Amino acid sequence: MSEPILKVNNLTTRIDIGSGVFSVIEGISFEMHLGKTLALVGESGCGKTMTALSIMRILPTPPALHPEGEVLYRGQNLLALSEKEMRRIRGGRIAMIFQDPVSALNPVYTIGSQLVEVAELHLGLYGDEAVNRAVKALKEVGIASPESRLYDYPHQMSGGMKQRVMIAMALMCEPDILIADEPTTALDVTIQAQVLDLMRELQKRKGMAVLLITHDMGVVAEMADDVIVMYAAQAVERGTVTEIFDHMSHPYTRGLFKSRPDPKKPQGELQAIKGTVPSITHYPHGCRFHPRCPFIMDKCRHGEVPDFTLEPGSKHQAKCWLYDGSLESSEKLCAE
Ligand SMILES: Nc1ncnc2c1ncn2[C@@H]1O[C@H](COP(=O)(O)OP(=O)(O)OP(=O)(O)O)[C@@H](O)[C@H]1O
Ligand code: SF4
Ligand SMILES: [Mg+2]
Repeated sequence: MSEPILKVNNLTTRIDIGSGVFSVIEGISFEMHLGKTLALVGESGCGKTMTALSIMRILPTPPALHPEGEVLYRGQNLLALSEKEMRRIRGGRIAMIFQDPVSALNPVYTIGSQLVEVAELHLGLYGDEAVNRAVKALKEVGIASPESRLYDYPHQMSGGMKQRVMIAMALMCEPDILIADEPTTALDVTIQAQVLDLMRELQKRKGMAVLLITHDMGVVAEMADDVIVMYAAQAVERGTVTEIFDHMSHPYTRGLFKSRPDPKKPQGELQAIKGTVPSITHYPHGCRFHPRCPFIMDKCRHGEVPDFTLEPGSKHQAKCWLYDGSLESSEKLCAE
């Protein structure tokens, strides 16, 4: 496989909330490749957005501290760059779209002036050239009569339309990497499907790497090449989308899959996983999932859980004692 466009090594971000310093993401590592989509999936509060903000270096500081580890973009560690250097990368080479387009688009400026600003700032285009680039960007995301839409304010557009504008803005500079944080969660199901289709089509055309953040296993199945499942600030399972769906291994991943949205169930309820996500101030000792895990063993209550490789030679890994090859674990697995 080609060299990764982004290599994240042991990324850890802590926040100082007065009563102490706590990690919101811990030891996260992954690689991203041009043309491929990596999905980051997990329940609310597990650290998905914090991972994205750490890569982009747009963490809320305070309370967040500067991230530790490495974020290598084309071999250059973004965590070591000055803010000025980082500004060139952000938006230009690595772009992000946010869960809530309302907070990302400025309500007091028209869509056109916001797009033109990006063209000026990142592409060095001015006057008619910048306006033409803005029109082209809106056309690319399927917005009809883009010339007249330039004069709209964000509040004059529907949620789906605003999300398209966000995507247009993010893609204007032809970034190598697009980080999409729950890009469709705020949208209704039909519009969700349209936006996902659009993202897939644009990725194919432009060949960028996409980091897709979602809590929805349905979206993962549809969009991802590779998957990382996060729980309580850590990566607990990783693999290709086929490995994850065909041989789901970590008990948390299995629970997440069983609890994927069902129109007959109340939305967002995790039917298959009892208990609640621990808060960053109270991560359990040992395996952080142990209070909720149906497979719990004594060894799960103490110490760090290693990442076990599930198939020799594959990248499919789970942070779970069930895969240590011991008799006790094998019996547990057989008994299910
Ligand atoms: N500004 C902040 N101050 C204090 N704690 C924060 C702040 N932002 C996030 N956190 C905490 O960091 C942890 C990780 O949050 P993060 O936003 O990354 O979760 P997430 O996986 O994106 O969740 P969601 O699916 O709800 O978007 C959470 O426990 C959250 O409470
Ligand atoms: S390490 Fe133990 S408690 Fe944690 S998920 Fe695996 S079996 Fe469950
Ligand atoms: Mg989030």
